[in-house]
Amino acid sequence: MPDQEARAQRAKLLDGQIALVTGANSGIGEAVAQGLGAAGARVAVNYVVGDEAAQKVVQAIRDGGSEAEAFKADVADEAQVQAMFKAVVERFGTLDILVANAGLQRDSAFLQMTLQQWQTVMSVNLTGQFLCAREAVREFVRRGPRDVSKALGKIIQMSSVHQEIPWGGHANYAASKGGIKLLMESLAQELAPRKIRVNAIAPGAIRTPINTDAWSTPEAYKALMTLVPYGRIGEPEDIAQAAVWLASDLSDYVVGATLFVDGGMTLFPGFATGG
Ligand code: BGC
Repeated sequence: MPDQEARAQRAKLLDGQIALVTGANSGIGEAVAQGLGAAGARVAVNYVVGDEAAQKVVQAIRDGGSEAEAFKADVADEAQVQAMFKAVVERFGTLDILVANAGLQRDSAFLQMTLQQWQTVMSVNLTGQFLCAREAVREFVRRGPRDVSKALGKIIQMSSVHQEIPWGGHANYAASKGGIKLLMESLAQELAPRKIRVNAIAPGAIRTPINTDAWSTPEAYKALMTLVPYGRIGEPEDIAQAAVWLASDLSDYVVGATLFVDGGMTLFPGFATGG
């Protein structure tokens, strides 16, 4: 029927769904939150510092026609994570999509790396993903199926090319991302029978505040491009598009996959001419 068809065309990929994005006040998380909002989801914007930045993201999503709300919580803190999930469910009714994105770097040569640098990165990048994924799964299971998606729930874990590429001077960060790979795959295996889809995105070099040093001067950008066969830095929107697809039923049969969005960084570019 033409009417129904027109309505179906107007419908957005994530209409009626509720998403929580951690670390959504800047960089990749900000773009993902906005992308999910533009695709029709109502978005919980998590952040830990920077109320103003979080409010700006919330406003941008609202301006685009979706509901959004900011939720302050440290993803490494169990009580704060649990309080945040409770608040999200109170505000939006439930949760369909978790994008566990919050992450940071505390770089150091290994000889000088402090226990604090190690633990900060592990707590946020890995334990934070454990805590958030666990609460999301508990909510999916508590609530049961609903007709907004074929899956009971979707979890997208933000990893990095450094779940594959060793990274001297960043052993803590690379170890945390390597941990995410097997956390994600183990969760995907365990939870697929419940119709919960767990996947990861592994971004390469994306233009965000985490790696300003790698792209903000012409010399740095040129050096970076020797690592990126596609010849450009990634933009946060490149990751947002991947997240929208992985969160939607378009990827319903994708379970336990890591989607590399890296302009070919993981293709051993040095071997294009060497070897
Ligand atoms: C890191 C960035 C780095 C990129 C590529 C990301 O996971 O956070 O600092 O530029 O990987 O090496």
